[in-house]
This record gives sequence, structure tokens and C-alpha cells, in this order.
Amino acid sequence: MNKTIQLNSQDSTILINLLPSPAIIYWGEKLELLSHQQIESFLSLTDRGLMQARIDEDIPLTLCPELGRANFGSPGIEAHRDGQAWAPQLNYHSHQQTGQTLVIECRDELASLNVSIEMTLDEVSNVLSKRMSVTNIHQDLLSLNQFALTLPLPYQANEVLSFHGRWSRELQLQRTALHHGQFTQENRRGRTSHEYFPGCLIGEESFSEQQGQVWGFHLAWSGNHRWKAEVKSDGRRLMQAGELLLPGEVQLNQDECYQTPTLYASYSSRGINGLRKHFHRFIRENLIRFDDAKVRPVHLNTWEGIYFDHKPSYLSEMISEAAKIGVERFIIDDGWFKGRNNDRAALGDWLVDETKYPQGLSPQIKQVNDLGMEFGLWVEPEMFNPDSDLFRSHPDWLLATDGYRSVTGRNQYLLNLQNPNCFEYLYGALDTLLTEHNIGYLKWDMNREIVQASHLGRAAVHGQTRALYRLLEKLNQAHPDVEIESCSSGGGRMDYEILRYTCRFWTSDCNDALERQTIQRNMSIFFPPELMGAHIGPKKSHTTRRIHDIHFRGLTALFGHMGVELDPVAETEQEKLAFKHYIDLHKRFRPLLHSGQNFYLDSQDKGRQAYGMFDEKQMLVTVAQLAMPEYMLMEPLKLAMLEGESHYLVTLVSFPQSSAGLMKHQPAWTEESPLMVKGSLLQKVGLSLPILDPESAILIHIQRCD
Ligand code: DGJ
Repeated sequence: MNKTIQLNSQDSTILINLLPSPAIIYWGEKLELLSHQQIESFLSLTDRGLMQARIDEDIPLTLCPELGRANFGSPGIEAHRDGQAWAPQLNYHSHQQTGQTLVIECRDELASLNVSIEMTLDEVSNVLSKRMSVTNIHQDLLSLNQFALTLPLPYQANEVLSFHGRWSRELQLQRTALHHGQFTQENRRGRTSHEYFPGCLIGEESFSEQQGQVWGFHLAWSGNHRWKAEVKSDGRRLMQAGELLLPGEVQLNQDECYQTPTLYASYSSRGINGLRKHFHRFIRENLIRFDDAKVRPVHLNTWEGIYFDHKPSYLSEMISEAAKIGVERFIIDDGWFKGRNNDRAALGDWLVDETKYPQGLSPQIKQVNDLGMEFGLWVEPEMFNPDSDLFRSHPDWLLATDGYRSVTGRNQYLLNLQNPNCFEYLYGALDTLLTEHNIGYLKWDMNREIVQASHLGRAAVHGQTRALYRLLEKLNQAHPDVEIESCSSGGGRMDYEILRYTCRFWTSDCNDALERQTIQRNMSIFFPPELMGAHIGPKKSHTTRRIHDIHFRGLTALFGHMGVELDPVAETEQEKLAFKHYIDLHKRFRPLLHSGQNFYLDSQDKGRQAYGMFDEKQMLVTVAQLAMPEYMLMEPLKLAMLEGESHYLVTLVSFPQSSAGLMKHQPAWTEESPLMVKGSLLQKVGLSLPILDPESAILIHIQRCD
């Protein structure tokens, strides 16, 4: 039997040894297809020898490391049957390879466990997907404490870039050296969470946007999760991620099976930009259910414009103004349903508020449609307020643990989606809304963390998460043309699994362009721009009170799925003209922004952020100055991704007038723009840039001419 399997993609290789228990023995830069003899040489080359003062056998770091085999790192599996069968050894049993997918079956006859490990290395995107399942084949109940996905890393992977955050400050970076011990993040908040995004990058020292070897990971799961990066005393290192299981949460009867979420991972030899390319391509081709023929319309979302103050006559003015500035989808946010005048009541009662909307929502929808726009609506289905008809009639639908006081979050409780009656009520309410109204888009919100979640007396975050997916899937099946956005107090539920059922994320409740520049940069590592809700907010940010002119706000929102989040009626004519200008700019470049390749550049000035999108024909680059420039002159913009032998027309599209007086004269090309330049010069010499004020940005368009 061939005991070593090689999976190759365009740029990477994975080698898996099947015996005695499957283990990855190589994952990195692409190797040629190895012959049987070359594999023998590979095995001989990589044989580690045997150390003193250790177990008298070399123990491979298996795909599901077992303490019972003397894998002393974090175990892939921790389970027991009332204290028995606690130290399994998962030996290879059989495997099947179909194209790029390898499924390996492992068995422990003594512990009566079957484990199946499935790995696919996507040939074009270089993204590896790994998931596992465990089946209890014994008559006694198996308690599963941990079942996590493990991947090995080479010695040079010694820096971890992790993501932490909070409401209005999602996806902040932390870089940590990894030489000994463990780096762990554990999320028990019951949703993907703002606190710990379920992903990380691990690479060689100082890996950057453009440089260095780096391995990227993302766990596709919207509930509790744990991930670790670990270095053992022999220098071997691993990454491990999985669902964080609460006590007793997963117990398997005979023949029952637990399936892990999928861990997505990729290797790049070209820094973080390589991972951006891989993940974006993978998502676009495999996860997003979005018709390529459709465009993503520019939004107006009412939240920061009117909050709960809904008046049909005023909304009518907003709708007219929205159409004039080029909005293509008008969304009524929170506040439209029965009794919803603040955030203390009415969640769960999904009927239109007749005091606010005596004729229902139909007149608004008609006006929106007549003006050529699509209509969207906000919902928060998983919740009810204690002050709601739903709670009064079905207090038993509360997701809680009997006997304990339930804490509210934003004055609300969670509904138990595993309760079939509750599930059907919610499905029915949403289905009715979508059937009776011409709604093209739902903003699906989720505004609290999960505490004391039990179903039938047992921990229930796992079950709640799976039930949410079922609810979304059922709605998707019934209303395939309705696009759903995943929002959770901003970006509290952004992951690849919820993405299978949704089309877009509300990135953050923070529309402050300065904060958004950082949040969007870090989000862009895992998600392409078309998934990133990016709205122009009011001049004075509602979450930070910072003031930004429309140019910085407009250019910051440009590189996402654009929208405006304000009341256009209350804005000056000048400001409205500017909204229209940036919306038109977005529409002009939307095909590139929503399908091109995204990159960020390394800069000597840490306060500068230069990024863009490109395809074979053109490139759009923003240079944003976030803090006071480090030097009196700006670092030239070198664009290595252009073709050296081609010629390009360089145009300065947008330059903030506020920065115009900062120099005696601007770099010559900006005055002569558009300018024809050879690609190799743009690659190696670069464009001189005008100095910018802090919190401002410029936009440059580069068109290939041959
Ligand atoms: C939280 C969301 O993130 C906001 O955009 C808004 O929809 C509010 N909820 C409404 O309650």
C-alpha cells in the first residue's frame, strides 16, 4: 500500500503519512510530484532520529493527536465513557482519495471509536479544508470534551498574528512571539464574537503584507471556539482549532456522530497578500452563494439617520433623497415593528407597527421600488424582549437553565431555536414577511452574548448554532432571491460558516473612517471587499465623536460593499453632491472592487496605509494617511504587482483639497495626470506622492494600455 499521499495545489504541497496514524509530514511551498523512490528519500531525509530521555519510539504528530500514543501536546480528542476509554489511539484503517480530497478512516477497536478525517486541498486557491467526525460504536454513552483540528507547522513559524476586538472596534491585531509553550484564544460568548475572531496567521519572524512565509487559519463556526498555537520542547509546533465544547454538551449514544466545523488553512510564501489572494478566491468560488450576474447595490441604511424615530412622511423624503444621490437599496433598520420605540421592547413581535405605519410598509416599499431601488428590512430573529407579546405568551421558549435568573443583554433574551415550536414560529414570521412584501434583503442582527444556554437541561450553544444554520437554510431555500446580511452588534458574527447562508457582513457599528481603515484592512485578510459592509456615516461619528470630511469618509467606504448610514434630508446640498460623487465613483469601479485581487503594501511610515485592487487591465490604489506623516516627504508608491513590460496610464482620481497647500508644488506627475509610464518604473522606482494631512487619503487609477 502507498503509505504516503501527496496533495498538490498551484503553489503548495501537503504530504501525509498514513501509518500508524495519519500525520502531515510536509506542508509548504510546492514540491514536484514525488516518485515512490523520491518519497523514500524524503522519509529518510526527514527521519528525526530518536532523542535521549524520551519515549523509545519516534511519535508522529498525528492529524488528531492522542495522549494515548504519547503525543504530549494539546490532544485532538478528549473523550471518555463514564471514565473508561479515555486514552484512545486512532489507528489508520482505510482511506479514499477522490481528486484533491482525501478521506482517512481511523479506528480504536478498544475504545470503540471511529474517526473520519477529511482534507481537501483546493487546487486553484491553495486553501486546505479539514474536518473530522467521531462516531461512538459502543452501547454506552460517550462524553466528548474536545475534538479539535490540528495542523503542524515548521520551525520557522514563530510569530502569531491574532485578532481581538470589541463592539465598534473589531479585528484589532496582536503579534506574539512563539518560541515555547502555547498561545490560546477561547471564545465562550456563544457567537463568533467581537472578542476573538476565529482565525490567525502564523509565520516566520517579521512576516508582513508583502514578505515572508506565513500560514493562515480560519475556523468556520459561529459559536464557541478555541484555538491554540503550540511549541513543544523538541521544537515541533502545531496549530489547533475547534469548537469549544461546554461540559456535557456533546454526548454520543451508540452510532451517533459529532462533526467538527471546518478549518480552512493556507500557506503563502509572499506574505499576507498571498493569503488574501488564496482566501478571497476560495470564498468567491466555493462559499458565497451570490449570482455573479448581480451587482451589489449601494445601500442607504436608516439606523444612524433616524434610529427608532420612524415617520412615514419623513421616510418618504429620505427615500427621495436617497434615490437622488444614487442609492440602489433602501433599508429600514430597527424600529419598524409593533411597539418598537426603543431597545427595551417588542423583539419577537414581527408585525408592522400600525401606529407608525398605519398603511403597513407597502407605501414605503412602493416608493422605493418606483424610484428604481430595492427594499431591505432589519430583523433580529433569535431574540425576544421580556416586554413583548411573544415572551408573554411563550416564556418557555427562553434559552436558559432552569432555576437560575436569566440575565438580559441589550434588554433581551434568546429564543431556544432547538424548540421545534419556537423554530417554526420564527420561520413562519419571517416567511410571511418575505412573502407578503417585496423585500430583497434582510439585515439579520444578533445583539447579545449567550449565557446559561440549556436545552432539555443540557448545554446548548452547539445545538443553538446548528439550529440557526437550519433556520437560515430553510429561508434561503424558500426565498432564494433574498440576500441576508450577517450583523451582530456590527461585526460580532463574521465567519466562513455563516457565510454559507448570508451574502454580506455588517463590518462594524463604527463608521468613523479612521477606525474603519484598520478594521477593514484586517478584515480583508479573510474576506473580499464585496462582503464588507462599508458605509459613509455622518460627518461627526456617532461612536467616536471624531469629525472627518466627506473625502476621507467617501474613500474609506469605497473599498467595500458601499452604503450611506445617515439622514440625507438633514445634509447640506454640498454634502449630498459629495455623497453622489463617491457613490458614482464606487459604481464606476465596482466591477473591479468586487472581483479583483486585493493587496496592501508594506510602508516605512506606520501611519500610512496603501492598498488596492487590480486585475489584468487596471489597478485602483488608495493611500490613506492615518497619523501625522513620519517624514516631510511621502514614501514613493512602488507597485510590484504590475507587469514590467506593459505601459500604464496613471491618473490621480481624488486628492483632498485640504492637503493642497501643504507643498510649494505637488509632485510633477500629479499636475500632469494622466501620465503614461512603463510598468517596470512603477514597480522599481514608484510614484512620488503629495504629502497628506493625517486622516486623509488619495485615490489613483492605473490603466494598462497594451
Ligand atoms: C446593531 C447593529 O449593528 C446596528 O447596525 C443596528 O442595526 C442596531 N443593532 C439596531 O438595533
